Amino acid sequence: MEPGDGVQCGKAPDTSAGSLNFQHPPPTQKDRRDFSQAVEVVRVVLSDMASVEHLSTSSGAPPAVEQTTGAATAAREQHVDPLNVSGAIDEQGNVLAFDYEALRQKFDTALIDESLRQRFERVTGKKLHRLIRRGHFFSHRDLDKILDCYERGDTFFIYTGRGPSSDSMHLGHAIPFLFTKELQDIFDVPVVIMLTDDEKFQFRGAKEGRDLGEFLDYAYSNAKDIIAMGFDLKKTFIYSDVEFFGGHYMQNVTEFETLLTNNQVRGAMGFDGRYVNILSPEPATSIGMNSYPAKQCVAAFASSYPELFGAPDFCRPRPRSKGNFEKRPRKEIAAIPCLIPCAIDQDPYFRLVRDNCHRMKAPSPKPALIHAKFLTALQGPGGKMSASDPTSAIFMSDTQKQIEKKINKYAFSGGRATKEEHEKYGGNPDVDVAYDYLTYFLEDDEELAQIRESYKAGTLSTGNLKKKCIAELQKFVGGFQERRNEATDDVLDKFMTPRKMEYAGNPHPIKVEEAVVQQNGETTEEKPDRNGKRERKLEKLEQKKREKELEKLALRNRDEKSGES
Ligand code: TRP
Repeated sequence: MEPGDGVQCGKAPDTSAGSLNFQHPPPTQKDRRDFSQAVEVVRVVLSDMASVEHLSTSSGAPPAVEQTTGAATAAREQHVDPLNVSGAIDEQGNVLAFDYEALRQKFDTALIDESLRQRFERVTGKKLHRLIRRGHFFSHRDLDKILDCYERGDTFFIYTGRGPSSDSMHLGHAIPFLFTKELQDIFDVPVVIMLTDDEKFQFRGAKEGRDLGEFLDYAYSNAKDIIAMGFDLKKTFIYSDVEFFGGHYMQNVTEFETLLTNNQVRGAMGFDGRYVNILSPEPATSIGMNSYPAKQCVAAFASSYPELFGAPDFCRPRPRSKGNFEKRPRKEIAAIPCLIPCAIDQDPYFRLVRDNCHRMKAPSPKPALIHAKFLTALQGPGGKMSASDPTSAIFMSDTQKQIEKKINKYAFSGGRATKEEHEKYGGNPDVDVAYDYLTYFLEDDEELAQIRESYKAGTLSTGNLKKKCIAELQKFVGGFQERRNEATDDVLDKFMTPRKMEYAGNPHPIKVEEAVVQQNGETTEEKPDRNGKRERKLEKLEQKKREKELEKLALRNRDEKSGES
């Protein structure tokens, strides 16, 4: 979500359960305008008071944080859900740095620890990506199962998304895609990218009286930005929700919606009635907001896109046509596992899917997740980055000069006030935004360590640290812009056409028998307690059967592929 999506402080009365007040006369157009203006004023005042805004997180927009050392008492706790992300605030009104460990424990996700990192390297045979090495992707669910899957040479796919809320993406938005592209290179598997124009309209556009069409436009221009991150056309499918929904996707949505209650969704999303639709002067949660999550959930089911997984006789279901079509999803396609890279605020959506996916008629396994921290604001502590404030963010469309200017002028520095003091006491890389950005973009670990040490020692000046940061950012953004120029409407069309993905997965899988032994030993899915032994046994058998089918499908895909080339 983007900054400004709702009100941070205070709590409007909860009307999400539907308390309609019939005593009021219906609002006039003017009432509506006045009301939404008033809401906007209150929102701005409140967010100023708190000097924090909620932040786009899934898309990586950074929180305003103050890196405090020592134990500050929080006057307000940090809060993270898909719609609201805010750092804790201390007694003096300072916004504190996120406590990711507390968040991880609260969400009950697993830490990407040293042994998992080592296994990742061992299984993939490739050096860990710097975003994992440096802890920017720090938490996970079932990543180990994805590694098992890759080890066996089984098919899986990667799913991520973006809420298209503005024309040009900024650096924070780009990070998850940078990482996803690397995962695609490492694993050689399909990637599906969901552009949630519907979500942005539901949660934001409706509130601001904007037109749905605007969000579609953003979806297409963001899709070009995403393409420019370097995704491989052969194995990447990008879709706009509004454009793509239908067929098996919608069947999955419809079925999955029957499995979720309003209360479940409300709990996961943190709805409390404070959202406002321009058409309603009452703070409210619309039914659209309640129903959207099912859509983001079923995107994690391979059966939502059977055409990508190469069922050769498959075409999108048109029950009125006489041709080859399959009305309902194939079980073996539904069984293809999914890995979701996302910022940690998106986790609640995927808890909904992990808790309910086994209840689908053609069940999918629980999707695995790999969670990112949020990118720090350009202004660092106390500042806030917003797509609507050009001085607060580095945009992917910024010129080389603009990047230089922004870093020099706005990037919060951990250096000392004077040259003499800096040389005497040294700088603090832990609060320095230029240093922080280098940890995202500078590949060389040794060089980074050297920069860190010399900055701390005071031998590296803030000016020179910024220079290094500017050079790395210019390289990244410059390369991006070259590729962006090549992302024509034609290319966009190709990426957005559902088609069979071409991928090879693990070139050196371990033998199937070994994998089965491992499977029995350690990787069976958790089942809800109420299931009896017999049921578990049956499910195990079913799972095995699905795996066999999957294996066959993977082999068939590979055979076909080698036949084609
Ligand atoms: N809800 C996300 C946003 O607001 C977009 C999104 C959809 C997403 N599916 C996703 C993000 C999967 C990460 C992973 O930006």
